Amino acid sequence: MRLAWLTDIHLNFLSPQELDVVIPALRRREADVYLVTGDIGEADSLSDYLERLAQEFDKPVYYVLGNHDYYRGSIESVREKMLQLSLRLPALCFLTQAGIQKLTDSTCLIGHDGWPDGRFGDFENSQVLLNDFLLIRDFRRPSSNLNRLDPEVKYYWLSVMQRLADESARSIDRLLKHALAEYPKVLVATHVPPFREASLFNGKISHDHFQPFFASRVMGEILLSHADANPNAAITVYCGHTHGAGEFSPMPNLRVVVGGAEYGRPEVQRLIEI
Ligand SMILES: [Fe+2]
Ligand SMILES: [Fe+2]
Repeated sequence: MRLAWLTDIHLNFLSPQELDVVIPALRRREADVYLVTGDIGEADSLSDYLERLAQEFDKPVYYVLGNHDYYRGSIESVREKMLQLSLRLPALCFLTQAGIQKLTDSTCLIGHDGWPDGRFGDFENSQVLLNDFLLIRDFRRPSSNLNRLDPEVKYYWLSVMQRLADESARSIDRLLKHALAEYPKVLVATHVPPFREASLFNGKISHDHFQPFFASRVMGEILLSHADANPNAAITVYCGHTHGAGEFSPMPNLRVVVGGAEYGRPEVQRLIEI
């Protein structure tokens, strides 16, 4: 079986004319299934893009969502839309809501969106302000009287990031436990790199002021604990978000692959033989 993996395709950065050329070009005749690890579009365009991908690829499309996919919406409303979409188009499988997906007798696929959790790097002194905080409803300031630069607002945003990151890590924890009981090889799809060493910018580990927003420490800790408890199993993580391609193996049986991406130039990262 062959899986074609894409990430951070950000289709909303392309004109309708460009989409007519780019979407067919993403199809791989050798692929049996597709995996997209988030940042596909934005809340109002996401369903249309996914539908087009499913039609064009004409194969099962597994996906998780990235932060951009929730822009101009809320976590709950976008996930509800994805639920409706999966009911209408069964070829689309939103891993965040689905359980363990069997790919072959020895390999399965699980996933959850994932979120940076502010626990790597130097959150306290970082001046980084993500669009997430302004464009996703869940990050709306607790009081509109508070200025964006007020530390209280910054720590409120951190608490929302951590709630989302922890939810994803808990879900992967549950899924991995069951997946590893049945399969020797587990592929994990998530949007955000789970280790500092996998969060790269221009080929180097991201600066300490960016790490809080470009890696999920809680997810990394869950992955390490399962890899440690299952030395004969192989866990491979596919993610994106940083747009900086790289690989990192913290343990012999745990490998993280991060996709590179450029806005306006979506591509297939890899064809993976399973
Ligand atoms: Fe992205
Ligand atoms: Fe992202």
